[in-house]
Amino acid sequence: MLDVLSRGTPTCASTFFCNFAAVKKLYIETYGCQMNFADSEVVAAILKDQYELCIDVQDADLILINTCSIRDKAEQRIHKRLRELEALKRKRPHLQVGLLGCMAERMKEELFHSEPILNFIAGPDAYRSLPQLIEESAKGQLRFNVLLSEDETYADIMPVRYDLNGVSAFVSIMRGCNNFCSYCVVPYTRGRERSRNPKTILQEVEQLLRDGYKEVTLLGQNVNSYKWNDDGMDMTFAQLMEVVAKTSPDLRVRFATSHPKDISDELIETIARYDNICKYIHLPVQSGSNAVLKKMNRVYTREYYLDRVRKIKETMPDCALSTDIIAGFCGETLEDHEQTLSIMREVGYEYAYMFKYSERGGTMSAKRFPDDVPDEEKTRRLEEIIALQGELSLISNKRDIGKTFRVLVEGYSKRSHDYLYGRNSQNKVIIFPKGDHAPGEYIDVTVNECTGATLLGN
Ligand code: 5AD
Ligand code: SF4
Repeated sequence: MLDVLSRGTPTCASTFFCNFAAVKKLYIETYGCQMNFADSEVVAAILKDQYELCIDVQDADLILINTCSIRDKAEQRIHKRLRELEALKRKRPHLQVGLLGCMAERMKEELFHSEPILNFIAGPDAYRSLPQLIEESAKGQLRFNVLLSEDETYADIMPVRYDLNGVSAFVSIMRGCNNFCSYCVVPYTRGRERSRNPKTILQEVEQLLRDGYKEVTLLGQNVNSYKWNDDGMDMTFAQLMEVVAKTSPDLRVRFATSHPKDISDELIETIARYDNICKYIHLPVQSGSNAVLKKMNRVYTREYYLDRVRKIKETMPDCALSTDIIAGFCGETLEDHEQTLSIMREVGYEYAYMFKYSERGGTMSAKRFPDDVPDEEKTRRLEEIIALQGELSLISNKRDIGKTFRVLVEGYSKRSHDYLYGRNSQNKVIIFPKGDHAPGEYIDVTVNECTGATLLGN
C-alpha cells in the first residue's frame, strides 16, 4: 500500500521553518488541532523580525511548544517531550523554552513547578506579548501571560505559512467557543467566541491566491456561528463562505468545525451552489443517544441531527460527512453505546475521529458526573466504534470505484516519488501515478482500487 504525507490531524505534532533575514533561531513544535497550527503561523509572524525559523531543534535559541489540553493523553505527551528537551537545555544553557496554547491557559504558573525547563508561558490570546515575555525571561525571570481577551483575533497579522507544498492554507476566521459542551475544556482555555473582521479575512485569502495557493480552510471552533456586525458590514458564515468562494473559481474552500445546532439551510444551500466549496462537512455527533447528548450539553437530539443529515444529503447527494465520537462518557450504558453504533450506520460516515472520554478538571462533567465507565470498557467500546467506522469507510470507498474526481494535487506519495497524492472535493485522499503532473494542479482521476483509508486511481 502506498502512503501519503499528511497535513495534520486532531492529534498530530509538526514543526516548521522558513527563511528570514534575522539572527537568532526559533523552533516551533505544534500539537493538537488545526487551530493550533494556524496559531503557530501567527506566532511565527509576530516573531519574524527577531527570529529565523529552523528545522533542527539542535540549532534553536528559542523553542516554542504550542500545546493541546483536550484529553489527558495530549498533555502527557507534552510533558514527555519537555523531559526530552531537558538534555538539550543542559548542553545549551542560553536556550529559552516557552510553552504556548491551551495547556498554558489551563495550568498557568503551576507549570513552572512541574516543568522547570520552561522560561515563560503564553495563553492563546497572549501571543502579541511574546517579544516582551522572551526579552524579560532572558534576564532570568519566569514570565507568563495567560490573560484571555474578548476581542483578540490577530486579524491584522499575516501568518507565516509553513506548509511547504504551497497548495492549501488555514485561515482563522474566529476564536474561542461559547458552547460549553460538558466534557470540553476549550471554552476555558480559548475563551469566549469572537469573529474576525471579514475585510482582513478576504485580504488574507487574496494574498494566498497571489502566492499561488489553491485551497483555503476557514477555521474556528464553531464556524457556523461566525457573525460580523461592524465596520459597515453585516455577515453570517454562509455569506462569508460565498464571498470567499467568489474570489476565484480556482480556489477550493473548506471549513472546520461545525456544531450541528448551527448548520442552517442557508449554509447547506450555499455549499451546494458553488462548485469550489468542497462537498465535505465535518459534523461532530459525539454520541447517538439522546440521554448522553443531554448530559454532554450538546443541545440537539439524535432526531434533529439526523434531520440535518437528511437535508445535507437531499441538497447534495455527493456530500461526504465525517464526525467526532466520544466512547464511554459518564453514565453511558450499553444501550447508549448501541445508539452510537446505530447512528453511525444510519449516517454512513466517510470518516470519523474517535476518542475515549477523558475527564478534564474544571469542566461541567468533571464537576457533576462520575467518570464511571471503567477504562477497559471504554477501550472495548472505542474498538467497536473504530471497527465499524473501518467498515463504513471501506463501503464508501468501494462506491467510488469507477468514478472520476477532480483532485487537487498536494504532494508526492511518501512511499514513491512516482506517485502523487491529492484530495477530491469530498476530502478523500487519492493516490495516482505522477505522469507529467505536479503539486498544485487540478487533475481528473478515475478511481480503480481502494482500501478503507485511501483511493487509488489513474
Ligand atoms: N474527552 C474525549 N474527547 C474529547 N473531545 C473534546 N473533549 C474531550 C474529552 N474530554 C473530542 C470531541 C471534540 C474533539 C475535538 O475532541 O469529540 O469534538
Ligand atoms: Fe468543545 Fe463543544 Fe466548543 Fe467543540 S463546540 S470546542 S466540543 S465546547
